[in-house]
Amino acid sequence: MIHITFFEHGNTQGQTIQGKVGQSLMQAASAADIEGIAADCGGTLTCATCHVMVRPAWQDKMPALSDDEDGMLDFAAASRQPNSRLSCQIKLTEAMDGLEVDLPESQY
Ligand code: FES
Repeated sequence: MIHITFFEHGNTQGQTIQGKVGQSLMQAASAADIEGIAADCGGTLTCATCHVMVRPAWQDKMPALSDDEDGMLDFAAASRQPNSRLSCQIKLTEAMDGLEVDLPESQY
């Protein structure tokens, strides 16, 4: 099991959930009812409502940003940050156990 902690915007108290290797970060969040992840398109990279900010310590564990994800991030409701990612594009690996991500103020 992979442990992931989500921090709501402006909240220092995170919510830790468990995900499985091979699942996307978005799927793990949805299965655990993380409210800050809307994921309207179900992971087809057409909505940008699964926006998260990956904390710096975890940047090097992330998969490379594809051109499609890069383009879609510009449509995220909350302003894009240097560490912004779309959680449906992050496939969980063993190396991500303990991952910490911040949620944007809003997905709409
Ligand atoms: S769930 Fe729609 S882009 Fe990630």
